[in-house]
Amino acid sequence: MIVFKIGGSVITKKDEYRTSRKDALRQILLVITQFPGKKIIVHGGGSFGHIKAKEFELPGRITENTRMGYAVIHRDMTELNQLVVSMLIEMGVPAVGMSSATLGLEGKISYDHIGNLFSRGLVPVLYGDVYPMRGGRFGIYSGDTIVHDLSIRYKPGKVIFFTDVDGIYDKDPKTHPDAKLLRTVDLKPQFGTIQNDVTGGMGGKFSTIQKIRLHCKEVYLLNGNYPERILEKRRKAFIGTVIS
Ligand code: ADP
Ligand code: IPE
Repeated sequence: MIVFKIGGSVITKKDEYRTSRKDALRQILLVITQFPGKKIIVHGGGSFGHIKAKEFELPGRITENTRMGYAVIHRDMTELNQLVVSMLIEMGVPAVGMSSATLGLEGKISYDHIGNLFSRGLVPVLYGDVYPMRGGRFGIYSGDTIVHDLSIRYKPGKVIFFTDVDGIYDKDPKTHPDAKLLRTVDLKPQFGTIQNDVTGGMGGKFSTIQKIRLHCKEVYLLNGNYPERILEKRRKAFIGTVIS
């Protein structure tokens, strides 16, 4: 099995509320459909999630404000999910959207439901979303955390992250022109400050990837603007980061 995570950074314009990048999304999905066998697709939020989360102070305590934020973000994330699912259906993939807002209070996915879809040849498409927590709070379950939970459960052969940079660098490539792409990671990179990302940005992603690695053979991180790079068979020629 392969788990794919499509980052909000590449399928949305991160600074423009609720604006998608449809061409980039289509190219990524066309590449994903070329992988035979069982797959689960997870996507993030980008400007459909993070902007309103910051504005409405989510994750956080239940208040009138966060209640409205919850409703808005769930609506926006579902809209993005429907776009992903519709494109997949047009490509002939029996994709089924599934929100983490239907989670239990512990914030764990209903694996039974995923398993039921999966064993019937359907392709679940999950996404980061808001969810009700215990203790009078609303949480945000990020796409990366979903991938982690799926990895514990299914022990996938590969996990592939599409993001908006070529891979993990020794420092943020957007603010450091001299940043070096790390083909594999054996030192602790720097991740800089985070804007428009309530779930931890690349620093959060990196620590989640290290946990995911314990449950699967290989984790790939590459630029979703050039998704065909993942099809490169020769490991040395692959442009991206591989953690194995
Ligand atoms: P996604 O939305 O794809 O899950 P994020 O927006 O959370 O991804 O993280 C990607 C961003 O992380 C990049 O745009 C990049 O500017 C930033 N970043 C910060 N530090 C690093 C680093 N050391 N290597 C790569 N990217 C980094
Ligand atoms: C965030 O999911 C979802 C919300 C903010 C509601 P992710 O944290 O996986 O999103 P990206 O990929 O970083 O945009």
